[in-house]
Amino acid sequence: QTFFRPIASAGPPSPTKRHTKISVIGAGNVGMAIAQTILTQDLADELVLVDAKPDKLRGEMLDLQHAAAFLPRTKIHASVDYAVTVGSDLCIVTAGARQIPGESRLNLLQRNVALFRNIIPPLAKYSPDTILLIVSNPVDVLTYVSWKLSGLPSNRVIGSGTNLDSSRFRFLIADHLDVNAQDVQAYIIGEHGDSSVALWSSISVGGVPVLSFLEKQQITYEKETLENIHKAVINSAYEVISLKGYTSWAIGYSAANLARSILRNQRKIHPVSVLAKGIHGIDGGEVFLSLPAQLGRGGVLGVTNVPLTDEEAQKLRDSANTVLEVQSQLGI
Ligand code: NAI
Ligand code: LAC
Repeated sequence: QTFFRPIASAGPPSPTKRHTKISVIGAGNVGMAIAQTILTQDLADELVLVDAKPDKLRGEMLDLQHAAAFLPRTKIHASVDYAVTVGSDLCIVTAGARQIPGESRLNLLQRNVALFRNIIPPLAKYSPDTILLIVSNPVDVLTYVSWKLSGLPSNRVIGSGTNLDSSRFRFLIADHLDVNAQDVQAYIIGEHGDSSVALWSSISVGGVPVLSFLEKQQITYEKETLENIHKAVINSAYEVISLKGYTSWAIGYSAANLARSILRNQRKIHPVSVLAKGIHGIDGGEVFLSLPAQLGRGGVLGVTNVPLTDEEAQKLRDSANTVLEVQSQLGI
């Protein structure tokens, strides 16, 4: 006897949908926020956790498995051995040191590059067709490092970049205008960090361009108000880190938002860290920076030709030079 009695000949199984496997490298605050969002949003058939701490890893795996009765069925594995990641459709890398209060993301570079030299090659070895989504900081430089260390094409090496900053920007604008953040089209581009660039000229709410709307309505707006909103975006992480020691929930949703667009082939546009050399006059070298890019099952499908004012384009080039200056010290 088996549990189930067939009521008719089942016939050949219908072609199963593609089995989707996501590996999350780094089972810390960020990695676990991403993992639980992947589970609640049913983004994978198989979720793999990798970390350097075996006990923490097993504890996190068991704790998530125990929620099985409340979640869509997802096989959850964990190991310190990268072989467990074999055949991953998407590898999300969150392993590494995080900022302590007052530390910048760029301060983490040397420590995390050293880790990436041991993390990235095995991921590409076990999953040569994978897409890498880099989250660890400084994310733009580490995305460049991952591209070089993995040997994968640049369209399959993506940094979470300013997808998170743009959500913070949309939240603050929505709060200021008392509208829903999902109706605010607004991009932060450039470095995920202190030199990011707010694209004021292309902000729209429900299809209404904000700046020209304010000008047409003769609504005086203080340029300072706009600058203060961008400063608040840049300060967001420092404030949260000073209060709770790290950021996790917003990046968890941001990374899952990107994973969905990629794995469900949504062809959605996100501001993410891509190889930006040659775009908007960025000519100082191979650098990854956030630009609005279309994401799908093949990774980066294209980068939008978003119109920039001369000031915005110059700020983007300055951001590129900031990242390149730090990157040039690596010799990679
Ligand atoms: P955490 O310290 O909680 O977790 C880091 C994890 O990496 C630890 O569990 C540690 O055991 C693991 N790890 C260290 N070396 C490893 C190795 N060689 N192989 C596998 N795992 C290893 O730190 P948290 O808060 O999760 O932050 C992780 C990273 O994510 C940091 O670099 C942080 O700056 C970055 N981050 C990036 C954001 C973004 O928007 N791009 C937002 C928030 C954090
Ligand atoms: C952030 C930092 C930690 O939350 O990258 O934006």
